[in-house]
Amino acid sequence: MSGIPVKVREVPTSAKFERIGAHTHIQGLGLDERGRAVRIKDGLVGQIKAREAAGIVVQMIKEGKLSGRLIVLAGPPGTGKTAIAVSITKELGVNVPFIQMSGSEIYSTGRKKTEVLIETMRKCIGIEIHEMREVYEGEVMRSEIITAPHPYNPYQKVPDGVRLTLKTKDEERRIEAGPEVATQILQQGIMEGSVIQIDSETGRVSLIGISEESERGKTYEVHRRLIVPRPSGKVKKEKEFVYNLTLADLDEMAASRGGGGLASLLFGALPEKEISPEIRANVDEQVKKMVDGGKAIIHPGVLFIDDAHLLDIEAFSFLSRAVEGELVPIVILATNRGRTRIRGTEIESPLGIPLDLLDRAVIIGTDEYSKDEILDILRIRAETEKVDIREEALDRLAEIGTRTSLRYASQLLSLAWQNSKNGGRDEITEEDVDRADGLFMDINQAEEHLRRYEAKMMKQ
Ligand SMILES: Nc1ncnc2c1ncn2[C@@H]1O[C@H](COP(=O)(O)OP(=O)(O)OP(=O)(O)O)[C@@H](O)[C@H]1O
Ligand SMILES: [Mg+2]
Repeated sequence: MSGIPVKVREVPTSAKFERIGAHTHIQGLGLDERGRAVRIKDGLVGQIKAREAAGIVVQMIKEGKLSGRLIVLAGPPGTGKTAIAVSITKELGVNVPFIQMSGSEIYSTGRKKTEVLIETMRKCIGIEIHEMREVYEGEVMRSEIITAPHPYNPYQKVPDGVRLTLKTKDEERRIEAGPEVATQILQQGIMEGSVIQIDSETGRVSLIGISEESERGKTYEVHRRLIVPRPSGKVKKEKEFVYNLTLADLDEMAASRGGGGLASLLFGALPEKEISPEIRANVDEQVKKMVDGGKAIIHPGVLFIDDAHLLDIEAFSFLSRAVEGELVPIVILATNRGRTRIRGTEIESPLGIPLDLLDRAVIIGTDEYSKDEILDILRIRAETEKVDIREEALDRLAEIGTRTSLRYASQLLSLAWQNSKNGGRDEITEEDVDRADGLFMDINQAEEHLRRYEAKMMKQ
């Protein structure tokens, strides 16, 4: 057996962006089998119509039937728009990418607004690639590193190859590989008893664990490695590998392939490269081919743009064009504005979103909460934050929430908890709530506060 040619590329795993600390109590839309919202379920309270509407959207996304691809959540501040977007993604499952951004984020870092949007949209398209690869797999019975003198320092030895004996339940085989495989064997601390896989084309070595049949696997010392059964079948075999990537990951891989030159030789890293429209078009072609050939599955994810009225006309026109395309995520826009000027124009429009875009969207409204609903939401928040609170104190907090806002009441919950702990208690009382409410201001109070000072300045 000759040496295995080596060219290794790390496949990046798709990372999800998540910034949902305020919504950790939410597990889903809380619907029953018939798609009806249960008053309190999965961390959600009330907002029945919006939740049921979102449920229908989820069903259509799952069945690939959502044609418009654009959803608008409209409602006053603190009425659960972000909460519902988060529950939608919880319902869609783990393989579905979800990115949350604020409308203002497109104005960042001197990059083109549309470039930020394209890239973000492509991060929201999950591509599950199935690949059959030929690998050598087995438990290492013997491993012998062949060394050679260092080219610049003959007193030093460097790995030049490796002889391995791999064993499965059914056969034992000797293989020989070149310096790249030898180096990986050394770096990963692979020795007798390790179960490994070597990709026959790329030479990439993966350490799977320690064989339960080896001496090392049988000892009771604490292993940092997984104990695994000795593989069965032939040593050389076809195995299916599944990679979960996004379109953006593939763009990056395509952009860096072949590039690099001296910088990549010296520093290992590839220089940042702008990803051109051609590269993207090429990636799209490849993906479509893989899908047609049954080698890939597309998981359109969700791009949630909060405070959508902060987008400008250029971004909106881009979105209207983009949602008509082929490989696009579901776009959810949320806004708490009624009628306002579209940024970058003098035109007023409902929700601050251009009419032609609104025309394509399904709109879901959220309503303000009753005191009982606020109380139940705060109770769930208290449980999630592991805060103990007396029933009267909770009632008090709900009353404040009705007068001010759910957010303010939610913040008072943690502040009152701090106050109770400072007083050596382990439960929030009405006094803790009142003290916190007295020390801090809600938005209206703060506005009034400053207005009084302004009035005083005018007189002087
Ligand atoms: N129906 C609900 N059930 C449980 N928790 C909720 C519900 N609605 C809102 N919340 C919680 O209340 C807080 C405020 O809600 P959220 O941030 O979703 O409001 P919003 O409508 O997005 O407001 P804004 O317009 O200011 O962005 C969050 O912590 C959210 O998780
Ligand atoms: Mg929000």
